[in-house]
Amino acid sequence: MCGIVAYIGHRDAYPILLQGLKRLEYRGYDSAGVALLNGELRVYKKKGKVEELENTLTDQPTKGTVGIGHTRWATHGEPSDINAHPHVSQSGKIALIHNGIIENYSALRKELTSLGHTFKSETDSEVFVHLIEEIQKNEHCTLEEAVRLALTQVVGAYAIVVVDQDAPQQLVATRKGSPLVIGVGKDEYFLASDASPIIEYTNEVIYLNDQEIATIKDGALSIRNIESIPTTPYIQKLDMELESIEKGGFEHFMLKEIYEQPRSVHDTLRGRVSAKQGHLVLGGLRQYLHTMINAKRIIILGCGTSWHAGLVAEYIFEEFARIPVEVEYASEFRYRNPVIYEGDVVIAISQSGETADTLAAIELAKSKGAIIFGVCNVVGSSIPRVTHEGAYTHAGPEIGVASTKAFTAQVTVLSMMAVMIAYRKGTIKETRFREMLVEFEQLPDKIEKALQLDQQIQYIAEQIKDADNALFLGRGYNFPVALEGALKLKEISYIHAEGYPAAEMKHGPIALIDEAMPVVFIATQDSSYEKIISNIREVKARHGKVIAVVTEGDAEIRHMADHVLEVPAAHEALMPIIAVIPLQLLSYHIAVMRGCNVDQPRNLAKSVTVE
Ligand code: F6R
Repeated sequence: MCGIVAYIGHRDAYPILLQGLKRLEYRGYDSAGVALLNGELRVYKKKGKVEELENTLTDQPTKGTVGIGHTRWATHGEPSDINAHPHVSQSGKIALIHNGIIENYSALRKELTSLGHTFKSETDSEVFVHLIEEIQKNEHCTLEEAVRLALTQVVGAYAIVVVDQDAPQQLVATRKGSPLVIGVGKDEYFLASDASPIIEYTNEVIYLNDQEIATIKDGALSIRNIESIPTTPYIQKLDMELESIEKGGFEHFMLKEIYEQPRSVHDTLRGRVSAKQGHLVLGGLRQYLHTMINAKRIIILGCGTSWHAGLVAEYIFEEFARIPVEVEYASEFRYRNPVIYEGDVVIAISQSGETADTLAAIELAKSKGAIIFGVCNVVGSSIPRVTHEGAYTHAGPEIGVASTKAFTAQVTVLSMMAVMIAYRKGTIKETRFREMLVEFEQLPDKIEKALQLDQQIQYIAEQIKDADNALFLGRGYNFPVALEGALKLKEISYIHAEGYPAAEMKHGPIALIDEAMPVVFIATQDSSYEKIISNIREVKARHGKVIAVVTEGDAEIRHMADHVLEVPAAHEALMPIIAVIPLQLLSYHIAVMRGCNVDQPRNLAKSVTVE
């Protein structure tokens, strides 16, 4: 949510900022802006996408080797040129970009107004830069010190970068709760919300800790904590390829990411599962493995698609490991007074590792003594830093706003976790364990086969693309798949869609069914197969249009459904990883046919760092 990028070094900053903003655009795309230092400070901002900013700057001076850039997802104040970042101070000499939320901005704004500051925008961020200037004026201190003192007054979440016309070879940056990565080049530094704008220049990065202040001055980087004590930067090597953040010939990131799934699931499994050697190891679960094995209860937290992955995990943990599981929306969990017993384990799931509600829910559970495991995709993000232990999903960067490969990777990791715990606990026997290892290893090939349905799915998409509503129905392990299918469709095509447990249909949603209603059944051959056939009949009896995802070779449903999509057979616990593929493709094609912006659906952002 909001992307920030900055550069200081020997090259022209503007092209680096522009390219960086395009890479970060998935974080927000309602306005964009840059500030460049070249003797004087020049600030350019524009409502709309980064491309619009670029178009308006073709005949403007954009020279300068120091600069900051921002792409916005509006929180305080509507998308507009004025509300776009960077924001400038009262004197017009200091410019700031900000990702996060300043909770006490209203009080600060009032106070600064009484001191003679005038504000141009409605944003919380503008207050920050005025505050820094006010402190600098009163304390006669450096920019770095003014930023540090400002942090003692600001309440909220932030990642900021500040430039000052009077300190032309300097950038000051800090963060709390919002991400910030510093790329270390040769005599140059790159700062960004994530590594994607950095990777083409350097693979050496520093993940700034909360309330550390980084100052890059005259080519040297120094980092201090909030007490002004110098800290030693820990430089890490990034394990990321440039091609992983480019479209690679696909029309959209979402389609590329759907097609990447045989590879991404393979990467999730790599080094963790070997059917030949009969082993299943998650390196991230060591110190607390026994806590997990002995857990009386598991609470799973997440939002959106990650919450759906948690629902799949509930079934497998309960069935295999016989541990009771509760799956909670992080946003609900954090605002009640949840009962947490000693020995409870929390699993927090997040692709971005930055979701504000999930982070806050983790803090709450931690404060009540729970042991927290993280299942995250973005290495070095905030959630893995606050959990006790965890496992990365290793799906690679997910840039399309609609989550696809992150979901299959999350379910893969959670299933591995459940099977490993179950085996160690003795709730499954050696034969079942070994069967599951084979099943895991077969996943990439089965996903590959499911992707071959693409043409058929395009045909079905053509038939139903003009629908106003759609229902997705599944039972057991496939119920969360129904929820995920509905979420995918509504978020990128803007068709109203609902997911339901198929048996619940008769308790209400059946009233909606007529010949205009597409009903997507996830009806693979599992323990609820016979039951779901009855549900399909109920829909057909009311002239609903049935699209059914079935197991390869299914002869029965073919005679009932309008369209069948055959996916390879798998153990029912792992079927969500395969059955979701046609649903992702269906949503994708419908959205493209409706002319929607698939990678950047309206009002959404990839990482939701506000509450
Ligand atoms: C849906 C989607 C969102 C995210 C949700 C949680 O396609 O992308 O629903 O799943 O915002 O995000 P993470 O997993 O980053 O915590």
